[in-house]
Amino acid sequence: TASNRFRVVEVGARDGLQAEKKFVPTEVKVELIDRLSACGFSTVETTSFVSPKWVPQMADHNEIVKKHKRFNGVSYPVLVPNAAGLKNALATGVVDEIAVFGAASDAFSLKNVNSNVEDSLKKLLEVTKIALENKIRVRGYVSVVVGCPYSGDVKPEVVARVAETLLETGCYEVSLGDTIGVGTVKSVGKMLDTVLKSVPANKLAVHFHDTYGQALANVLVSIEKGIRTADSSIAGLGGCPYAKGATGNLATEDLLYFLKGNGFETGVDLEKVVETAKWFNSAAGYDKWSRVGRAISNK
Ligand code: HMG
Ligand code: MG
Repeated sequence: TASNRFRVVEVGARDGLQAEKKFVPTEVKVELIDRLSACGFSTVETTSFVSPKWVPQMADHNEIVKKHKRFNGVSYPVLVPNAAGLKNALATGVVDEIAVFGAASDAFSLKNVNSNVEDSLKKLLEVTKIALENKIRVRGYVSVVVGCPYSGDVKPEVVARVAETLLETGCYEVSLGDTIGVGTVKSVGKMLDTVLKSVPANKLAVHFHDTYGQALANVLVSIEKGIRTADSSIAGLGGCPYAKGATGNLATEDLLYFLKGNGFETGVDLEKVVETAKWFNSAAGYDKWSRVGRAISNK
């Protein structure tokens, strides 16, 4: 039987902020990462070594990785799209984990990284190889695993093949992303059944955007299929700038409440996450709340 340990990967500082038009000051991002580290997450994604022309909000990646604290037992992956990004990440001397991101539809892949699925996989595999040679851990993402904003339904077989390829090249885990949050228990369940034919559950994570309010239901079906890792974002911040209509990620606070109430251990302090969201709102001039954060702090 699968265990009741559950790993929550906090992606707020990266996925949460990448699409924000207003530049969040670097010091605020750094303090957000430090406060999140103190909440008990084992993985805190921090920034992206992507082109600043494509994603201006992540242009301060060098400063971010050098300035934030590194807590014992916490890993700090950064997104890397190509060899240039890896070179920049390595040059900082402090990056110990990267995340490479592929997709399951050509239409989305072209918008997001200016390459189709095959070409982008070739680049990712090259990046992964060099990273591993440099003793850097690599996490993989597959985007648009159930629906693409530009080409509609996505074939589960394609998701399975991209996930397998990423694992074969040396990613320690692959996170399956419903980038635009269109999945339901039925479509996510079907996709997972297909992927799980060739990839074990302990090599998978799920990454649900909550655009249509389906994220927690989709986490539940993932748990039923043996998956014990999910990505989420503080206060439900987030979205992909190259996915039309994508809104925030599943909120970390909502996920933690759900997991605790259903008997799972995460090691993350929910109250502290709510405090951090409250701090972030005042520091960045935001008013973003998860449902649980709102309930707990009477907002
Ligand atoms: P391109 O224009 O095809 O690339 O972009 P290029 O190689 O021709 O380079 C164009 C310019 O960018 C050049 O500069 C390069 O030097 C520079 P110029 O000569 O014009 O001055 N450049 C870079 N600069 C800094 N860092 C780099 C880099 N690479 C090239 N790494 C590229 C290709 C991949 C760079 C671009 O499309 C890009 O940056 N895309 C990233 C888009 C992105 O970050 N999307 C969001 C993350 S994915 C996501 O959110 C989904 C996820 O959450 C899961 C889910 O929800 O499903 C992970
Ligand atoms: Mg995402």
